[in-house]
Amino acid sequence: MAVITSSIGRKYAMALSAMFLLIFLVIHLFVNFISIFSEEGFNTASHFMGYNPAVQFVMQPILMFAVVFHFLMGFILEVRNNNARPVKYAMNNGSANSSWMSRNMLISGAVILAFLALHFYDFWYPEISYKYIQGNNPDELRYWEELHHKFHDIWRVALYVISFILLGLHLAHGFQSSFQSIGARHPKYTPFIKAFGNWYSVIIPLGFIIIAIYHFVTQ
Ligand code: HEM
Repeated sequence: MAVITSSIGRKYAMALSAMFLLIFLVIHLFVNFISIFSEEGFNTASHFMGYNPAVQFVMQPILMFAVVFHFLMGFILEVRNNNARPVKYAMNNGSANSSWMSRNMLISGAVILAFLALHFYDFWYPEISYKYIQGNNPDELRYWEELHHKFHDIWRVALYVISFILLGLHLAHGFQSSFQSIGARHPKYTPFIKAFGNWYSVIIPLGFIIIAIYHFVTQ
């Protein structure tokens, strides 16, 4: 526990949770992207994820912990940073010495948190209810239909797309920042990490945007 009571320990733990979520996003995009190409493929992949005990009872609780931890820790670090700054704008002189993205991680993070509340209501809760509350039997066919119908309303598609753009901005700073926080700084590798982070923060949100728009226009 001493690890997360020191300032460096907190940044380190924050970065590790971020890296875990970066990997989750790749897997999540990959599985959901199948829905564009193959209804059957998406149903099979979702069924595997939904009923595999290792995914359900090991990965899912770790993921939930990482999400909650990341948001709480991000909030605590931001409040402490602000309190540590005697004159707020003397050290953080707007765009003069930091990017819009880095100064607004809390705002983009809050939008993503609001998106997750809607997203859990849309997908996660109905799934938990279907399996564990209503106690239904596994049904390999339902996933694609459910996902497809969720993107029927333009307001939901719009909210999702706006959230994915904010997610991109959050990742544009967060990706390289997480590497810096674990001390991965090297004249040779840092430019590569930054370039990879820039591509990641465009491709991942764009992939999610394509999924949402694809299902909307093919209703
Ligand atoms: C068009 C984009 C997206 C689609 C179609 C989608 C679809 C889904 C579906 C179907 C589930 C339920 C999985 C289950 O429990 O059976 C789910 C859960 C979840 N999604 Fe998404 N998702 C999208 C974007 C995102 C984004 C951008 C994030 C993160 C910022 C995210 C985070 C999560 C989390 C944390 C869960 C709960 C964990 C899980 O059950 O796997 N999703 N999503």
